[in-house]
Amino acid sequence: MRTVIIDTDPGTDDALALMMALNSADMLIEGITTVGGNATLSDSTYNTLGLLEHLDGKQSVIPVAVGADRPLRGSFTNAYHVHGSGGLGVRLPAPTLEPHGMSAAEFICDRAAGSADRLTVIALGPLTNIAAALDSCPDLVDALAEIVVMGGAFDVPGNVTPHAEFNIHEDPWAANAVFASGAPVTVVGLDVTHRTSMHRRDGPEWFEGASNSAVLGNRILADRFRACDDLQEFYLQDPQAVAAAIAPDVLTCRPARVSVLTDGDERGRTLPEYGGGSVNVAVDVDADRAVRLVRSLISNS
Ligand code: BDR
Ligand code: CA
Repeated sequence: MRTVIIDTDPGTDDALALMMALNSADMLIEGITTVGGNATLSDSTYNTLGLLEHLDGKQSVIPVAVGADRPLRGSFTNAYHVHGSGGLGVRLPAPTLEPHGMSAAEFICDRAAGSADRLTVIALGPLTNIAAALDSCPDLVDALAEIVVMGGAFDVPGNVTPHAEFNIHEDPWAANAVFASGAPVTVVGLDVTHRTSMHRRDGPEWFEGASNSAVLGNRILADRFRACDDLQEFYLQDPQAVAAAIAPDVLTCRPARVSVLTDGDERGRTLPEYGGGSVNVAVDVDADRAVRLVRSLISNS
């Protein structure tokens, strides 16, 4: 059983990742922190609270702490064209759950210091909150079991530029701070996430059953395929980070030191120096097993 904090910017694939974590018997969710990215911070927080209320109920005791509305420099560009209106495509009813009083960075530090188990942070958006937490709490590096990051494009083209993946491109300064912190990081980039997807041809019941997660997961995917005529496969990007936290051996990783370019055309490019370091770069995935895990966790609950 892992005790986790999930940092997220829902985001359609973030929503599927949250469903997996909420349904997993192997994960105890200490809290969820929100960040701008796919959507504005306001939309990503609305979606997080709405998803939690829909999936875990109005009485959910999982805290949601609000984080950064901008990267360490400049502003987020957002990706409504990828994720749909509101950042989720599907509009959830206005949540009655309220955010926690602490900021995301305060919450991460507080729970890491107070938790009996070492926390795993699963970062599904730009790394701004994680960098802020590491900056404000020097002890955090030693208090964390692992930071699992969805981000980067190491030996494959990026998805926002030929060189860069979205989460890293949105805040390359934060990514550098996290990768250089010395905390144990597993980075799940496009090299492996683009090998796991849900196909248009397999719908409209990608997830089986009548559970809240299966029904909403199917609605979210149907909305994306309806909105984007050319889209044939929906990549399981953030879900694969949750899969890796539940079943680390689904990935093959290589230890490296990773730096990120922050300027110019190659902004957000992740450069690995293999042969040792605190960052485990995912270089291969058991794609069938990862997809099965995503399907079963969202279907059965
Ligand atoms: C990442 O960016 C967002 O579009 C997804 O939610 C995922 O976190 C993929 O590049
Ligand atoms: Ca995301």
